[in-house]
Amino acid sequence: MIAQDITEPRIVVLASGNGTNLQTLIDATISQAFPGKIVAVGCNRPRAFALERAAQAGIETFTVDHTEHDSRESFDAALGAEIDRHAPDLLVLAGFMRILTTEFVRRYHGLMINIHPSLLPKYTGLKTHQRALDAGDKVHGVSVHFVTEDLDGGPVIAQAEVAIAPSDSAEILAERVRTKEHLLYPIVVRWFCEGRLKMEADVVHFDGMPLPKPLYLAEESQAPAD
Ligand code: GAR
Repeated sequence: MIAQDITEPRIVVLASGNGTNLQTLIDATISQAFPGKIVAVGCNRPRAFALERAAQAGIETFTVDHTEHDSRESFDAALGAEIDRHAPDLLVLAGFMRILTTEFVRRYHGLMINIHPSLLPKYTGLKTHQRALDAGDKVHGVSVHFVTEDLDGGPVIAQAEVAIAPSDSAEILAERVRTKEHLLYPIVVRWFCEGRLKMEADVVHFDGMPLPKPLYLAEESQAPAD
């Protein structure tokens, strides 16, 4: 019998929809060699496919339906209570489409990361692919960042770029970006679980040093380069 590592970081993932990013995290963390474990998946939509993905992987799930709460404060308090039952070391937002209260963000300061489909600080919020097309951008991409009180505005940990072709639609571009999301997010979660990644005074530290700029996922490679 393999002895269980009791210091293995405990990960809670929050999602709202399909959960393709959740799936890549499940696939990565299922390996014995991964230095962390998804202990629960939470959703704000009872019918989100992400819940099914988690159940299929034997991961505990919880739902806090935002439509049953009449304020963000009440929703976030209920969500926080569910999350805390699992005593997470890391909270991973994977397509979790709710604006969080300041109190909630402070509660998980330095422990909560998010993936956003743009090269932040460009295009916070929604419809990022269409906005990149409308602006005539040649390059688009994805960012993983620590969550702070600024919506999609916390310090960026890592990014990956994709080229925009003149014929791209928002859907095609979204698909290209999602491929990069699926490569990048498990890498960043691994760094956090290995203790290589921290946020101190709202600055990302990597291997004990402040990060002067986000790490980049190199083109045609799974190895991040800076
Ligand atoms: C992903 O593209 C993620 O970057 C985005 O939601 C999608 C979820 O897809 N997140 C945000 O826009 C957060 N601001 P998934 O459910 O298939 O993982």
